[in-house]
Order: sequence, then structure tokens, then C-alpha cells
Amino acid sequence: MSEYAVSMEHITKFFPGVKALDDVQLHLRTGEVMALLGENGAGKSTLMKILSGVYTRDSGDIEIFGNRVEGDLNTRQAQELGVAIIHQELNMCQHLTVANNMFLGRELIKGGRLDFAEMNRQAVEQLAKLGINDLAPNTVVGTLPVGRQQMVEIAKALLINAKVLVMDEPSSALSNAEIDEMFRIVKELRSQGCAIVYISHRLQELHHIVDSVTIMRDGHYITEGKFADFTMDEIIANMVGREITEQFPRDEAHQGKKVLEVKNLRAGRAVKGISFDAYEGEVLGFSGLVGAGRTETMRAIFGADAKDSGEVILDGKPLNINSPADAIRQGIVLAPEDRKKDGLCTKLSIRENIALPNLDLICNKIGTVLRGHENKMIEKGKSSLTIKMANAEVAAGSLSGGNQQKIVVAKWLARDSRVVIFDEPTRGIDVAAKVEIYQIINQLKKQGVVVIIVSSELPEVMGISDRILVMCNGRITGEVDPRTVTEQEIMTYATQFGSNEG
Ligand SMILES: Nc1ncnc2c1ncn2[C@@H]1O[C@H](COP(=O)(O)OP(=O)(O)OP(=O)(O)O)[C@@H](O)[C@H]1O
Ligand SMILES: [Mg+2]
Repeated sequence: MSEYAVSMEHITKFFPGVKALDDVQLHLRTGEVMALLGENGAGKSTLMKILSGVYTRDSGDIEIFGNRVEGDLNTRQAQELGVAIIHQELNMCQHLTVANNMFLGRELIKGGRLDFAEMNRQAVEQLAKLGINDLAPNTVVGTLPVGRQQMVEIAKALLINAKVLVMDEPSSALSNAEIDEMFRIVKELRSQGCAIVYISHRLQELHHIVDSVTIMRDGHYITEGKFADFTMDEIIANMVGREITEQFPRDEAHQGKKVLEVKNLRAGRAVKGISFDAYEGEVLGFSGLVGAGRTETMRAIFGADAKDSGEVILDGKPLNINSPADAIRQGIVLAPEDRKKDGLCTKLSIRENIALPNLDLICNKIGTVLRGHENKMIEKGKSSLTIKMANAEVAAGSLSGGNQQKIVVAKWLARDSRVVIFDEPTRGIDVAAKVEIYQIINQLKKQGVVVIIVSSELPEVMGISDRILVMCNGRITGEVDPRTVTEQEIMTYATQFGSNEG
């Protein structure tokens, strides 16, 4: 019998116009956590979807616990062999309960009826095995924070008795506390003998849990080995195929005149009187813990959520913004954090996604799209970020996760705005593409645009901003200079809860 829980050899997979995998191999041992690394579009998710039966391979060999997989593998067979996958984009049914989600497609039946009592009981039992004792099985999933939903996904995967668990970027939407909890669970599973494939672009977190690495590039296998035998620079060089000298290129700011003024903004329960100024040619970072109200502040400025009170003043002129369309027209754009929900129409083509928010620029007076203008805009978006795609006509949903994020950014680069707000701009984006996005931010800054970035990754806000505002509980609690501040100081402001009255 093979020493491996999973071994994959010579795996090849074509999609129309793309060779996603070319002679790829992977070897996963029992009781180990392996990081599967590579740039956006390298083929990580595709390889794991083949292992879990979501896609069929064109050629290649798969062995799971020594059992050779003959012919196509479907999801049910993969599950029977003990393979479970948590996909990059969470796919929980938001309106169903925790227990219903965990038993989706495998509902328990008693006397011709759904046996809710038994499903609830088993759900509680499974969650308890993960050390989660405070989550009622009849909670509607949509009401839970993403981190909790992630735990439900893990519990669901374990219900089938998974011995191989694939986690495709599980940490990208989690808060630090949630990530800690997830790490605890991953270690627990490893100690129970589970083999885990862990995909992540947050390279800094890997040392907490990873035993080995496999690195892919552009559909090819590059190398594998013990994690401890690689330096971070070597890992990056293997992923990218070249050295990346500067992870956070920051052009020196020449702060110009005041462009944006936000005065005493209040919106819902999350934004409790926000005031700040932003200047021409500066990158203003917003730091804070998840839930501090940063996203809500940006959405209120952008008109995506209603304001209760407060003013937004651009170039000395008070704006009347009641919808995103108002904001866009007057020069304020927002690239949102949740690309699947707000940022992208996954069924539409890349071309349409870039064109849609910019129709005012590419249509003539009677509303016909001018193809020439449109093509130029697509080219601009595509070339400023290297988006890996067959062509601009394919559905945005067929792109790799990171490339979808790039489309969200690209569509706003196509127009000239005064203020560009990026909410978690590099979530799920690989090291090299992050640098591309930072360079674009620098480019915008040089053109005199006010760039606002909201980011939960401290090294990122500290590395790229010229000034940082820290928020806690719906208020701005501190302003710091990223060149001299420590992570500690930022965390102090980020946990400075004031009184609770709005
Ligand atoms: N269903 C699909 N149809 C067409 N092309 C696809 C499909 N799924 C993936 N691809 C293509 O296969 C290639 C590999 O994509 P994959 O999603 O495996 O990358 P990845 O390594 O997971 O990247 P990321 O880090 O961005 O998630 C990409 O070029 C992608 O566009
Ligand atoms: Mg992926």
C-alpha cells in the first residue's frame, strides 16, 4: 500500500481555450497539513476539484489511501473514499439552518418525513467535536458571521467522516480571532490523523499550521517538500518564477490640497459620527478589527447604504449622494469587499462586467454602446492588471478566485475618479498580483486621486498607506503615521471601545 493518503500523478485538464493543468503531481501524507501554493490561476482549485470529483480529469492517475481510481471520479465516490472539500467561495444556503446545511442532499428520514430532531442532534454532536458548543443547530446560517459559517462548512465536511480535507482559502474572509479558532480545529483534525490540503495567499500565516508545501505555477507542478526547508523568499520565487524584491512598494506622497471631507457621518448602528479629511495624492488607510464599521462607513459615503446624517464634501462642494450611481457620477467609486455579492456578476462576461458601471463613458447620446470605446476600456483594464483569461467574452465566474477580484478592481480603473475606495482590495490575490494592485494604487496617487483602502491585514495597510485612521465600534479612535507606528499601537486604538450611545 502506498504511504500516501492521496497521490496524484500526471494530471492534465483542459477548459475551452485554457490548459488549466499540465502533468501535475501531488503527494499528501496522513496526518499532515500541506500548503498548496501558486499564483492566481495556477490551477490549485482545479486540481482539488478533480480530487473531490467536481471536475473530471482529462488524463492522469489518482490514488486515495492506496485505492487506484479507475475512470472518472464523481463527488459521491470521492466522499466515499473520505475526501471532503471546502470551496473557495462558501456555498452555504443562507436561508437554511445550520443542521439543514450540514445534511443538505443527505437528509435523514424517518417514517417518510425529515427527521429534524436527529439531524439537529448529530449537528450538535459534530460541532462539539470541533469544540463549538455555543451554536444552536436551528440558527439560520445567513445570520452568522462568515467565520462561523466556515466552521459549519468544516463540521459538514466531517459529517461524511472525511480523512482528507481540502480547504480552499478558508482564511481569506475571517477575522484574526476566527482564524485562530480555525487553526485550532485544523490542528485538532491533524492529530486525529486527517490529511489536510490548505490553500492560502496569506503566506505569513502558514508557519502556524503547515507541515509541507506543494508549489504550482501556470498549470505546472514546480516543487514540493517540507515547509521548514524553504525560506519565504524561495517559496515566493517558486510561485512567481522570479524574485519579488519589494512586497510593499510605497511612493513618497506629496500631499496636495484637500479633496474629500466627511463630516459627522452617521448610518445605522455601525457608523456613529465619522469625520475625516483626505488629500490629493495620498493613500488613506482604514484599519480596525472586523466589525469596526469601516465597510459600513465606506458604503454610506458611496451611497450604497442610507445615511442618517452627515455631509460628504468633494472639492469644497457638498454632494448629494443617495445611490452608488450618484457617487460614481460625481467622482467617488468603491470596489467592495464581497466580490460575489456586490462586486461582480459572475454569469456575465468579463467585458460586460467592466463595461456595466461605465456605460456613461462608452455610450453615445441615444444609449448605444460604442464598441471602439468599449474595447479600449477593456484593454486598459486588462493590461493594467494581468488578468489570466482565455478572452474577455468568457463568464467572469469561470475565472480563478483571484482573477475575479482583479476584475472588480479593473472596472474602476477604467474611469477617471476623484476618490477611489478599495475595501479589502487584495483578498485572495497572490503575492505578485498584490504588488500590481499596490502599483496601481501608487499610479492613482500620482495622478492626484484620493485613494482610500480598508484592509484587515496590518502589514498591508502599514506598508501601502501614507496615513492611517483606526476605527473601533463605529468611531475613529486614532490617526497614525504608518512609517513609525507599531502593530501594537494600532491594535490599542482598534480596541478602544468608547461609550455605547450613538
Ligand atoms: N469552470 C471553468 N471554466 C473555464 N475555465 C476555468 C474553469 N475553472 C477554472 N478555469 C481556468 O483554469 C485556470 C486555473 O484556475 P484555478 O481556479 O484552478 O486557479 P487557482 O490556482 O485556484 O487560482 P486562485 O488563487 O486565483 O484561486 C484558470 O485559467 C481559470 O480561468
Ligand atoms: Mg482558487
